Amino acid sequence: MTDAVRIVEVSPRDGLQNESVIVPSAVKIELIDRLSRTGLRTIEATSFVSPKWVPQLADAAEVFAGIARRPGIAYPVLVPNETGYERARAVGVEEIAVFTAASEAFNRRNINAGIDESLQRFAPVMARARADGVRVRGYVSTVLGCPYQGEVPLADVVRVARALHDMGCYEVSLGDTIGVGTPARAAAMLRAVAAEVPVQALALHFHDTYGQALANVLACLELGARVVDAAVAGTGGCPYARGASGNLATEDAVYMLHGLGLDTGVDLAALSETGRWLAARLGRETGSRVGRATAPG
Ligand code: HMG
Ligand code: MG
Repeated sequence: MTDAVRIVEVSPRDGLQNESVIVPSAVKIELIDRLSRTGLRTIEATSFVSPKWVPQLADAAEVFAGIARRPGIAYPVLVPNETGYERARAVGVEEIAVFTAASEAFNRRNINAGIDESLQRFAPVMARARADGVRVRGYVSTVLGCPYQGEVPLADVVRVARALHDMGCYEVSLGDTIGVGTPARAAAMLRAVAAEVPVQALALHFHDTYGQALANVLACLELGARVVDAAVAGTGGCPYARGASGNLATEDAVYMLHGLGLDTGVDLAALSETGRWLAARLGRETGSRVGRATAPG
């Protein structure tokens, strides 16, 4: 493999949303500013969801307004509805992500709506984004299993991914929310979705609960996927998905990608340093194996 992979760094959003102790806004801002100096081109900054549902990210506006946005870097934010869209636009957001799931049961718990209802809720957001020149990414959660429903039929994953793409999402991120997938299943899922949505418009968002995320990414790279979501220090998890734990650690993803000859544009040393810095702020050791292996002293 000799081409390039785009990393979507999700630690400021997915990485922090599940933290029970409120992280100060200044730390969130410093995290994003540090990440902005590592060569990453996409950094998901925060989430304009209901503060009652995710108190950790209630400071979304303050954080977004406080970061030093660098030219050439996209700073998407999660938006669940028109209220979120308006809050985001008020502080100058230029890219958003809408999110739904392939499982009805998870969706109800996460966004208090069924799948079709959620897609309908996105329609006015998509229309406003189009008019405003705002780029929209889409997420499909529970693509390899659901904590409430169990198995998720591939046909449901394909249908929802396609619906998001058809609505105008430039990229659809496929989320193994609870990290239960294994490589052959991840590859089969990607193959099924790629039959309906161009593989260039698909991203891999694999949580690492069972230690399979890196292997699952590799299986999907072999099928042509070239966008990988990850979070420094292996932070992350969804508060509404029982059993969800950290994302694939960005440091580990980048180390593997570089080893495969795939360019990411990311400075691994600076990234690992940022991961260790974040872990220290959260009061624990980094969840990245590369971060640990390269720690000084
Ligand atoms: P709801 O309670 O049905 O909404 O929640 P509502 O429209 O009835 O509003 C209830 C109250 O919230 C009202 O306030 C609204 O104004 C307010 P009140 O009148 O009671 O004072 N409200 C808002 N306030 C600020 N910003 C908003 C907003 N919307 C409503 N945007 C809702 C529905 C979607 C809002 C809620 O369920 C929600 O916010 N859910 C978000 C859950 C979440 O963030 N989950 C984690 C992200 S998804 C994820 O992690 C998976 C992913 O990583 C991929 C993967 O791993 O699979 C992406
Ligand atoms: Mg996630």
